[in-house]
Amino acid sequence: MHNTIEKAEGKLGILTPGLGAVATTLIAGVEAIKKNLAQPVGSLTQMGNIRLGKRTENRYPKIKDFVPLADLHDIVFGGWDVYSDNVFEAAMKAKVLEPMMLHAVKAELEAIKPMKAVFDRSYISNLDGDHVKQAATKAELAKAVMDDIENFKEANDCSRIVMVWCGSTEKYIEVSAVHETIESFEEGLLNNDPAISPSMIYAYAAIKLGVPFMNGAPNLTCDIPALIELAKQTGTPIGGKDFKTGQTLMKTILAPGLAARALGIKGWFSSNILGNRDGYVLDHPDNFKTKEVSKLSVLEDILQPDINPELYGELYHKVRINYYPPHGDNKESWDNIDIFGWLGYSMQIKINFLCRDSILAAPIVLDLALFSDLAKRAGMSGIQEWLSFYFKSPQTAPGLTPEHDIFKQLIKLQNTLRHMMGEDLITHLGLDYNQDLVEAM
Ligand SMILES: NC(=O)c1ccc[n+]([C@@H]2O[C@H](COP(=O)([O-])OP(=O)(O)OC[C@H]3O[C@@H](n4cnc5c(N)ncnc54)[C@H](O)[C@@H]3O)[C@@H](O)[C@H]2O)c1
Repeated sequence: MHNTIEKAEGKLGILTPGLGAVATTLIAGVEAIKKNLAQPVGSLTQMGNIRLGKRTENRYPKIKDFVPLADLHDIVFGGWDVYSDNVFEAAMKAKVLEPMMLHAVKAELEAIKPMKAVFDRSYISNLDGDHVKQAATKAELAKAVMDDIENFKEANDCSRIVMVWCGSTEKYIEVSAVHETIESFEEGLLNNDPAISPSMIYAYAAIKLGVPFMNGAPNLTCDIPALIELAKQTGTPIGGKDFKTGQTLMKTILAPGLAARALGIKGWFSSNILGNRDGYVLDHPDNFKTKEVSKLSVLEDILQPDINPELYGELYHKVRINYYPPHGDNKESWDNIDIFGWLGYSMQIKINFLCRDSILAAPIVLDLALFSDLAKRAGMSGIQEWLSFYFKSPQTAPGLTPEHDIFKQLIKLQNTLRHMMGEDLITHLGLDYNQDLVEAM
């Protein structure tokens, strides 16, 4: 495959519906990194290594030196928002990065002005922006987004575009008839079907144009049969849902470890307080429900209580998110974990994570943009399960349970890169280092 991967030549446009805390932290960060003012910490594509061949070969190149990724200097940013603030203004309001850092890249940030959004208040009732497209039908809105993409590509002289949803979490909806086939979906666009959300309109526009689409929120968005099918037809990589940061990141690091040692878990109570706009949107029960579903599935899939009833059959899992303005983007989470060990003796683990949500999310957006662009150039299309590493609720083929264990997710990601580049896959078997033993067998 490596001989057929197209080179990362020319500029890559990264478009984000939503230019809020996460997107502006990403953009300001990349501009600062380009000026050598900071390091891309947390980004696997920029700082991670990958082992190649046998352990005795000692080959550990940087991932960005191993696979042909777009260079940060070749990236151009753009996006849509329901508020008209440019990226500098939006970043100042989000208060994630220090004003000094933002002033160092002020000119670059001020130059990025949001395009008018596709927005429907019935999906996010806690937002009231008016920088919004008007059209008679959802089909016209989708066409307008496609025009935006084409115009952006031309104006910025990009050879390729990717889209990552960094917009707010929409209210909870389930897959229904209009989402089933491309035909029913396109008819729904013409008939303004209420079950087609704004994020689906962006996703449809991107996928129709063959632009990779990654979904950073827990909304259904491209996780519906119609858009999965369309992605296959148009040769487009897609993925989601919900960036894996903060508390869920901790959960998918810790739970596989406890399960690996066959320790039991009776209860896992997770509470969060956060005060940014994301927290305000999630304060509405309809939007919280979407997030809750995404956060709850994690433990069950890792611990598999059905095949481990003695250890996890009684597990009580609860997740709470509370809007608390004084904390801003500096989310605080508490986890109380009731575990039990040998002969059923109980123990407790407490985690108090004082994190910065957008600081954890920004490098994920960068990696997803770069890897989905790589996937497209490598001829991969449809759901990119190897990018599950980045998601709270990974999108998978129908009938397949998602893999939540972060270590298995990393092995999958790295083996996919090795496979792309024609390197041996690594199974971690290791018996071949003990030749005599193997030959004796
Ligand atoms: N920060 C994290 O750690 C994290 C983790 C996982 C998921 N997420 C998700 O990422 C998304 C972005 O998070 P954030 O902290 O930047 O939130 P934010 O509220 O700061 O930014 C979201 C932006 O999207 C805009 N928006 C909403 N609907 C839109 C639409 N239809 N079109 C265009 N713009 C729209 C809003 O006006 C807002 O500016 C949220 O859905 C959040 O749940 C964030």
